[in-house]
Amino acid sequence: MAVAMGVTNAPLKDMDEWDDFLTGRYKEGKSEAEFRQYDAEANPGVAEFYRLNHEHQTLDYVLAKEKQYFGLDKGQKSIWEAAEFLNTLVDDSDPDTDLTQIEHLLQTSEAIRKDGHPRWFVLTGFIHDLGKVLCLWGEPQWGVVGDTFPVGCAYSKDIVFPEYFKANPDYCKPELQTKYGIYAPNCGLDKVHMSFGHDGYIGEVMKNYMPEESLYMLRYHSFYSAHRHGAYRHLMSDHDVKMLDWVNKFNVYDLYSKGHTKPNLAELKPYYDDLFAEFFPAKIAW
Ligand SMILES: [Fe+2]
Ligand SMILES: [Fe+2]
Repeated sequence: MAVAMGVTNAPLKDMDEWDDFLTGRYKEGKSEAEFRQYDAEANPGVAEFYRLNHEHQTLDYVLAKEKQYFGLDKGQKSIWEAAEFLNTLVDDSDPDTDLTQIEHLLQTSEAIRKDGHPRWFVLTGFIHDLGKVLCLWGEPQWGVVGDTFPVGCAYSKDIVFPEYFKANPDYCKPELQTKYGIYAPNCGLDKVHMSFGHDGYIGEVMKNYMPEESLYMLRYHSFYSAHRHGAYRHLMSDHDVKMLDWVNKFNVYDLYSKGHTKPNLAELKPYYDDLFAEFFPAKIAW
């Protein structure tokens, strides 16, 4: 049974569409100019999604959401419970061709595993989108998925649909629209407030359990303007720049793992039971 979510009560199929749009545009290797022309006309639903996202992700909104969620007081869940919870966000689309949330996670982690990467990297593949449970706590889709970017300073032209920032109330606050805004030069990404979404949230959930490389992958996997276009270097420390290499290593798997061969959950479960037990207690705080 579908659980309708988001501002327009659209089913989850749409939520994946925003991610697919992003990953698709980066896969095709078109120029930015080509994208600009093509994006809005060819994808009116996606354009509307980003219009809402760019209008509502203000500094105040982000600070309020961080306060609401970063205390991790929404309950204790095991990794399987979180994944199954996320899977309840089923859409009405064809069950034979569309992957469930767990299947997307397993495709990502299995692709990483096949390439012989360390166990923490495989695990990162499995947990990277678990922050989408935010949708089940009533957050609108524009506040959960999509491209992420720093708030409290000037917007990069390399963010998708940058023209929609004109409707953001912060756009009229000159102190929030300078190059550095509220930040000091090269202050480090840990000081920077990113637009709120599933990336930052899962980074918080996992911060006591996963290595730093993994936390960068989790926190910044949708920060496309930085890892695809080199934007926002002026806010990063040298350490951030080095660690972003890991984000790029990870994103290859997120981009290319969306095939339609369904992973066999029953077969894979024992491996993942062991993997979860190696890094986590039975239940963790969400
Ligand atoms: Fe994601
Ligand atoms: Fe993903």
